[in-house]
Amino acid sequence: MRNRNRTETYHQRLVVPFEYPVLFTRGAFRKEHEALLKSLTQAASDCRKSRVAICLDDGLATAQPELRGQIEAWFQAHDDRVEMARPILLVPGGERAKNDPGVFRWLVEAFLRAGLCRHSFVMAIGGGAVLDTVGFAAALTHRGLRLIRLPTTTLAQADAGVGVKNGINFDGVKNAIGTFAPPFAVINDFDFLQTLSDKDWIAGVAEAIKVAIVRDRSFFHRLEDLAERLRRREESAMEPVIRTCAALHLAHIRQGRDPFERGAARPLDFGHWAAHALESLSEYRTNHGHAVAFGIRLDTLYAWRRGWLPEPAARAIFSLLDRCGFFSIPPVPLRWDHRTMSTLLEGLDRFREHLGGHLCVTLPREIGRTFETDDIDRRLMAESIRELLGGATRMSRSPVRRRKRAAIQF
Ligand SMILES: NC(=O)c1ccc[n+]([C@@H]2O[C@H](COP(=O)([O-])OP(=O)(O)OC[C@H]3O[C@@H](n4cnc5c(N)ncnc54)[C@H](O)[C@@H]3O)[C@@H](O)[C@H]2O)c1
Ligand SMILES: [Zn+2]
Repeated sequence: MRNRNRTETYHQRLVVPFEYPVLFTRGAFRKEHEALLKSLTQAASDCRKSRVAICLDDGLATAQPELRGQIEAWFQAHDDRVEMARPILLVPGGERAKNDPGVFRWLVEAFLRAGLCRHSFVMAIGGGAVLDTVGFAAALTHRGLRLIRLPTTTLAQADAGVGVKNGINFDGVKNAIGTFAPPFAVINDFDFLQTLSDKDWIAGVAEAIKVAIVRDRSFFHRLEDLAERLRRREESAMEPVIRTCAALHLAHIRQGRDPFERGAARPLDFGHWAAHALESLSEYRTNHGHAVAFGIRLDTLYAWRRGWLPEPAARAIFSLLDRCGFFSIPPVPLRWDHRTMSTLLEGLDRFREHLGGHLCVTLPREIGRTFETDDIDRRLMAESIRELLGGATRMSRSPVRRRKRAAIQF
């Protein structure tokens, strides 16, 4: 008689290496510049010209009106090797790109209309939100077009543009849908940064402070030395910070043994559960970097109050954020009533769902050293939020100084 319970297993194992260069440069669209051409032609195995769709952040296009002409001229100068799919696609800048699923749909339609195939390129030029949206559309079209990212904000060059994730918001939930899709190349061109608003200029430093607290004490001390120069918009201070921050993120993805985040631990999401909740609560009027600064303060305060983080370390973190110009609470018109507080705390539940059912929050034990915990006392977390808001009960014991106006204009 046949054994109905018998199971046969054919074991399938695939090992697929991913490799991509992350360049730091200036003037990428100067005709004689090699970097772009190399990236676009290095994989061309046949004699065909590389076909490239250009997706340009509309905020960047407005701030740098000469850029479109430079892109056109660059493609004309190299039209024997590369071919630009016309027209240039102007993508709504900022979180608008991620909030409206119509933008994603419009991009996929444009890629198909332009006749792109899996050997074609999509070049995404813009802030982290545009890179996330274009990256998602490129990853799904024909199951994956080749993506070249040119990040144009400090945050995108230091963090959002160099990793392997993309995604858009859905139903009010931040990054609710997306994929893991390593890019083909990343070109960080520092010249783009000149036209950023003060708010967007400093935003990337929040991610640098985050990764320093998680991974690198000496980087934290360098940030302390550079704080005022970063706030004054000195390029010679910002560039090494972007390079180090990007390198630390790349090392984590490469060496952390979990590039596609299958496990629960997300050390580089330190401060992010509250940041994402605040962004969504404020209907995305709080910019990501400033929301991350708030999330870092909150989890630092909580870790200190639990007795897990020594007070001098908590004070140093608050002081660095103050000196860089981050508000204790990003100034968005929110009513900090009971409902707002409980919605913010629900961010912990969202984060748990996002992780796969088990809460795993990264908290600092020292600067440069963190641990993971599921032990979050919501009452104490709510008190910490209240304390950050300035209505603290035991203010004198807190490392938080009363809110003072920072120079950044919102
Ligand atoms: N995929 C990831 O791994 C990852 C990591 C971190 C953050 N993110 C995402 O990145 C987004 C935040 O990105 P961001 O901080 O770059 O902000 P952003 O993309 O929201 O851009 C901010 C503003 O700057 C404008 N802009 C872009 N470049 C400019 C320039 N050079 N000059 C003038 N204006 C310019 C944009 O039009 C926009 O209005 C968030 O959605 C966040 O979730 C993704
Ligand atoms: Zn972030």
